[in-house]
Amino acid sequence: SITMILCLQLKETNLTRLCLNKTVMTVNDSFPGPVISVHRGDTAYVNLHNHADFGITIHWHGVKQPRNPWSDGPVYITQCPIEPGKNFTYEIIFTREIGTLWWHAHSDWTRATVHGAIVILPSEGMGYPFPEPDGEEVVVISSWHKVDIDPDVEEEDTIEDIALPSSSAYTINGQPGDFCNCSKESTYHWLVDPGKTYLIHLVNGVMDVEMFFAIGHHNLTVVGMDGSYVKPLDTSYVMISPGQTMDILVTTNQPAGRYYMAARQFDTERPDIQADTDRQNATAILQYTGSYPNTSVPYFPAALPTYGDLTAGYSFRSRIRSLASKEYPIDVPKNITTHMYVVAAVDYIYRTNESGTTNVTAASLNNASWWNPPLDILMAYYRNVSGIYTADFPDKPPNYYNFAADELPDLITTPATKVKVLDYNEEVEIVLQGTDGIKHSTDHPMHLHGYAFYVVGYGHGNFNNETDPLGFNLIDPPEQNTVSLPKQGWTAIRFRASNPGVWLWHCHFDKHYTWGMNTVFIVKNGGTPETSVKGPPAYMPPCKSSALRLQK
Ligand code: C2O
Ligand code: CU
Repeated sequence: SITMILCLQLKETNLTRLCLNKTVMTVNDSFPGPVISVHRGDTAYVNLHNHADFGITIHWHGVKQPRNPWSDGPVYITQCPIEPGKNFTYEIIFTREIGTLWWHAHSDWTRATVHGAIVILPSEGMGYPFPEPDGEEVVVISSWHKVDIDPDVEEEDTIEDIALPSSSAYTINGQPGDFCNCSKESTYHWLVDPGKTYLIHLVNGVMDVEMFFAIGHHNLTVVGMDGSYVKPLDTSYVMISPGQTMDILVTTNQPAGRYYMAARQFDTERPDIQADTDRQNATAILQYTGSYPNTSVPYFPAALPTYGDLTAGYSFRSRIRSLASKEYPIDVPKNITTHMYVVAAVDYIYRTNESGTTNVTAASLNNASWWNPPLDILMAYYRNVSGIYTADFPDKPPNYYNFAADELPDLITTPATKVKVLDYNEEVEIVLQGTDGIKHSTDHPMHLHGYAFYVVGYGHGNFNNETDPLGFNLIDPPEQNTVSLPKQGWTAIRFRASNPGVWLWHCHFDKHYTWGMNTVFIVKNGGTPETSVKGPPAYMPPCKSSALRLQK
């Protein structure tokens, strides 16, 4: 059913954080942006008006959009920017997704402030596979930058290294909380009644690190992840990667009082470097209703791991399992037709200009560093425009090393627009391999558009082709759209290519994405109208090559 027609206004808004007033882009003047609430199986129409002075697009992260890549959003992949003063209507088709997803700008670093949660309630008469919650709450963790992260980088500037500045602070529902100077008054408060069970819709919208999250004295039960239900997992903290979403039950069974909800960076790149105090903890307060002495400081979650705690981060994510019930069945591919081994690295490319040849930081998948074309891949594919991309994304790296342990040899990564073409309904397995690169090694939260995939395995070190598959979980692997590839480790995912179209996959650290850690699947039509990409809507934003920005 059609739930709604929603209007989003993208514009400049003045906000004060960390004692500093700043102009940032927002949707409808709010940071984070408005919550889009739908029921399972709905279709929503969202009309985005661009009042900014640069082009923008929006992505509905985790919504599979069957046969409808036209509304998926990534710039130069499925559309060109919505130019200043123009608007575009996205058709967002929900199918099996349930729980929590989110939306965000997908054209440049504007997404730091242009994002919000999507809450997907059960469809009518369907109910929850757990006791019905007494209330629901949205918790969005985001980055805040003191400096401007200007999206308007001219093409010629990008010959130099461009790197997204680190977040100055992290926020919960838009506020850094009272551990930061200047933030005391504005700390986000969530009022709860005692003796109730609430469902938290948690989103990690942060630009640059994974996050731990916990609530003082309260246990958490994770029941959903990335828009799918999981087996209830009792835990004192969660680890959530940028791009990921979770549904978490919390019962207010503690003495009436005030308790911190805290998020802390999980930094796998520099686990041993102490972060600035402002950056360490984003806090909000869970506050019981009723009267009680309100003098003491709120209880801080003792279980919140320290930010370099690799064991805490890795052990949490390996405990997630699909619900895999009769009502929520899973379908793990078992007859793989396409095997890929994809090495993710932060390395260099060589650029030559008048002043000679320099090496520039780049990020790559199998040594290919993505270069955005002037016309979106989807239109080029649909209209058979040649010269926009090549269909030769490699299924394996050009050379094998001990990726996990060695300083990688000077890799010759090349900028290219290489895509991988899949036949309809192919069963795909991708083993993603983390590296110890030239730069610091780090996790990579890898996100696939248009699909959810099964995470069948994780491990440390180099993937072993003979022995590691024996340990794959084909019974109840979690179904996710974003998986954290462990630094110097590997993860294996599987999916069936049943959604024809053009689908981006990339690292959800924006710095790495900007540096080219992405590629595209083109999934061919299946031969019938019901298995083919829909026609484009009557209006798509036109492509002008002058609109090339940020993305190299
Ligand atoms: Cu959350 Cu390509 O996006
Ligand atoms: Cu990355």
